[in-house]
Amino acid sequence: MNSRKPLISDNSRVADVLENPIGFDVAYKLMLQMGKPFSKLNVFFIRNMKMKTVKWFARKTIDPSFFDCLYELLNQEPERLPLDKGEVSKKWWKEAVFYQIYPKSFKDSNADGIGDLNGISSKLDYLKELGVDAIWLSPIYDSPLDDNGYDIRDYRKILAEFGTMEDFDNLLVELKKRDMKIILDLVVNHSSDEHEWYKKAISDKDSKYHDYYIFKENKGAMPNNWTSFFSGPAWKYVPETDEYALKLFSSKQMDLNWENPELRAEVADIVRFWRDKGIDCFRMDVINYIAKNSFEDGNNTIGELMGFYGVERYFFGEKLHEYLHDLKVDAFGDMFNVGETPGVGFEMSRLLTHEDRQELDTVFLFDHLETPSHNRFDAYKYDLNFLKRYYADMYEHLGTKEWPSLFFENHDNPRMISKVSSDEVNRNKIGKLLATFMLTLRGTPFIYQGQELGMLNQNFSSIDDFRDVESINKYAELLGEGLSEKEALAVLLAGSRDHARVGMPWAEGFSEAEPWIKTYPQLDITDEKEMADKDSIYNWYKALIFFRKEHKALVYGELKFVHESAKNYLAYFREDENEKFFIEMNLSENQIKRFENTGEYEIIFSNTSSGEQYLSGYEVNIYRVK
Ligand code: GLC
Ligand code: CA
Repeated sequence: MNSRKPLISDNSRVADVLENPIGFDVAYKLMLQMGKPFSKLNVFFIRNMKMKTVKWFARKTIDPSFFDCLYELLNQEPERLPLDKGEVSKKWWKEAVFYQIYPKSFKDSNADGIGDLNGISSKLDYLKELGVDAIWLSPIYDSPLDDNGYDIRDYRKILAEFGTMEDFDNLLVELKKRDMKIILDLVVNHSSDEHEWYKKAISDKDSKYHDYYIFKENKGAMPNNWTSFFSGPAWKYVPETDEYALKLFSSKQMDLNWENPELRAEVADIVRFWRDKGIDCFRMDVINYIAKNSFEDGNNTIGELMGFYGVERYFFGEKLHEYLHDLKVDAFGDMFNVGETPGVGFEMSRLLTHEDRQELDTVFLFDHLETPSHNRFDAYKYDLNFLKRYYADMYEHLGTKEWPSLFFENHDNPRMISKVSSDEVNRNKIGKLLATFMLTLRGTPFIYQGQELGMLNQNFSSIDDFRDVESINKYAELLGEGLSEKEALAVLLAGSRDHARVGMPWAEGFSEAEPWIKTYPQLDITDEKEMADKDSIYNWYKALIFFRKEHKALVYGELKFVHESAKNYLAYFREDENEKFFIEMNLSENQIKRFENTGEYEIIFSNTSSGEQYLSGYEVNIYRVK
């Protein structure tokens, strides 16, 4: 007999929705967006309310179709996973510190202004000295670079600008020598429109490759109302076949058809190709988007709320688990894999990463990158109190069979220090505070290039400074909406991905030639200066990374938050059978009183020489508890 829960409908109660994994995540997100604590939903009167009553109360603001769409999504995944409390399994990738490299901007070795593989090889000693165990390279495959390599033309070839397969093999040798590992980026939600498959697909409708992509008949209008993440509709008209093809990102990034088993077999083959070459892991680009549930219009209410139409039809498709599991079994084996999963919340992430389910090992979630009701393109000051709440909620929802990733920066986001405070006097302390989160909470840290040097956002002064397709499209869209050039530029300055994509500030320079993207000098930061200054952010990272390697309580130890209601204050213990540590931080720039009596503790790290009674602005202390 099927013991499945009854389906969610108008007759279900709010409590049933909250019990549902997707229901929980959606409700959590909505409450965040409204700036309300989740506990507000947990009162009897609300929990007991029928959904049809909620529908009625919300009728002026939320279209009833929203609820139908929601039920459909929820009913796809009726059961929450039980919360495991047992031992955490030991894995190399839980202990390792990862470092993301954006190859185009890391180091140019041949004076053409573009970073490359030999440039990366030449900096491995720098990374080893910092304590990095594994590097993740953003895509290095052959590509027309419409989205800097996230548009792949040939999955088995190295981009000429980055070097040759020999250079790559050499990089592998150099990594092995230093006992370091490597992750490549697998971009298989879409391929470039210059990929052989796509070219064959449009030159012959009857070729098998036509079914590798998502084409819809031309009925005189777009197939549906879905929008692209890079502005405009999600469909491109294809004159060759008189059809529309789906492209959730740029017009040169064509969505692949995962329904087709032949396409899935191709992906498994690509994974095996690189695995056989000796790489250790894959990061899977927007991997939760691969399973499209249907091609119906996106719901208007959701579209307005999110700024993108159609997402609910594919961000957590019904077949996602099956596709990921098969790939894990057929191709990854025990290789580590991390999924980039925008829009996924805690409970959904558990379904993807629970150890026994064999889908993904860990995921990148994104809800912590902006505070509630803000998006990346808003200019605002990030309140670190939100991180405290976010992590407390996250750890409450993860069992011992799921393992999170920890990161604040990547190639898709502005620099985190700049979001928290534009005042440069705070840079050093905030940089260390963020490092402490990543290296003392439970999860695998991913440092983004330059983060260890305390890099800040750029002062781009004209649209000509931008290189990113997202920024360039956005600018045009904003002008179209009637913003002035100055206003549109201000929006880009808040959220452009190019902030993170400028060349690394090596003392000898990123390149001997004019770099592909203009870099504004920032506070005169260089690797050499940071390394020489014993109080630098770099040296804090380095010391803490090595400390974490020696003290596994910071990796596997129990995590316990204390003084949770104290505003601007975050404190927690990490403890295993051997050791116990206490970590405290002032999350604001003003001094606050001490909430914990640390008199008996031994201080081992501090980012300031603090007073007895107070913690100064952004102060961080790590103690050993005896
Ligand atoms: C991911 C990548 C981003 C890229 C997009 C489309 O979000 O991190 O850089 O533009 O996918 O591939
Ligand atoms: Ca180069």
